[in-house]
Amino acid sequence: MDKLKIAIIGVGGIAGLHYSAYKKLSNVEVYALCDINEKQLNKRGAEWGINRLYTDVNEMLAALPEIDAVSVCTWNSAHACCTIAALNAGKHVLCEKPMCMSVEEALEMKAAQERSGKLLMIGFVRRSGNDCRIIKEFIDNDALGEIYYAKATYLRRNGNPGGWFGDKSRSGGGPLIDLGVHVIDLVRYLMGNPKPVSVYGVTFEKLGNRPNIKSGKAYLSVSAGNNDICDVEDLASALIRFDNGAVISIEASFSLNIKNDEGRIQLFGTKGGAKLDPELELYGESNGYMTNTTLQARTAFDFSGLFESEIRHFISCITDGVSCIAPAQDGVDMMKILCAIYESARTGHEVVIE
Ligand SMILES: NC(=O)c1ccc[n+]([C@@H]2O[C@H](COP(=O)([O-])OP(=O)(O)OC[C@H]3O[C@@H](n4cnc5c(N)ncnc54)[C@H](O)[C@@H]3O)[C@@H](O)[C@H]2O)c1
Repeated sequence: MDKLKIAIIGVGGIAGLHYSAYKKLSNVEVYALCDINEKQLNKRGAEWGINRLYTDVNEMLAALPEIDAVSVCTWNSAHACCTIAALNAGKHVLCEKPMCMSVEEALEMKAAQERSGKLLMIGFVRRSGNDCRIIKEFIDNDALGEIYYAKATYLRRNGNPGGWFGDKSRSGGGPLIDLGVHVIDLVRYLMGNPKPVSVYGVTFEKLGNRPNIKSGKAYLSVSAGNNDICDVEDLASALIRFDNGAVISIEASFSLNIKNDEGRIQLFGTKGGAKLDPELELYGESNGYMTNTTLQARTAFDFSGLFESEIRHFISCITDGVSCIAPAQDGVDMMKILCAIYESARTGHEVVIE
């Protein structure tokens, strides 16, 4: 059987993890690359030995009708146009998180997916983690009972990545849309994807990109430079309410006066509680005693393993008709949550989600 032909659109940092994951699969071939930055495109082409290189997505799709599927790994501002172009050309799409920058874009992407009949998977990569699979097994076996409250935290002390991440016109926002999206999605997924009904949110722009802070290692190796744009929030906090009465409390920061970076989720149910920090702990009752259990799950931030698992799933959805764990509708719901938090922060009021 012919190998599936994959194109990667946007060949910066995260594209490297998509590429390595595709390379591990014997039934796919990374066939073409596209990036508006010609220097970066040529660099990746040479590094990966690929010579079908394009600076325009539509040109690539017109020239190479044999492409089966694409990974969209561009800045957030180009997710919608690249995804819609690929779906309209009859390609399956794995689009990086966040799905896009607005609810309108998300709905247009979902409509393009429905028209095309192709797969649109959103890169909610934390769903593909070993830790997520294990905690989900406990939840599916009713170890936590009804989960009615959860806390999702992704805090960096000095971790504004700079570049387009701080430029709202290309990112759509700061740590909420970049980091918060991961943990909100993971918690909502573990709660069984309840429908969001309202949010109350706040954002702060107090610290900016803190380019001169030398002490305290940033979470990422990259850090904003003096001349980088920074018109996004540096801290966001919100309460998200769901139709089943459950509530998630979320905090996400690029810059915050905190001792250590934190990436943690906590779930609170009627039968037990759980914490991923990144090790998994469960709190319950046994023989009339309160019990704490620690599992040695693989860490949540093992990015290479996560992407391999995500991309293996994307390909098996295409080749074997496996049901997608992160379909377009979940991306639409997430954009409703994120945009409502920004609106609530702007207006100072609770925002109802239709
Ligand atoms: N899942 C994760 O854990 C994770 C981690 C990091 C980044 N991401 C996501 O991946 C995406 C890319 O992030 P990155 O860190 O790789 O950024 P990056 O800047 O390293 O790479 C993005 C590339 O996209 C290119 N690009 C922009 N617009 C384009 C267009 N219209 N057509 C073709 N190419 C275009 C840029 O020139 C750049 O080379 C973002 O959406 C980000 O949120 C996800």
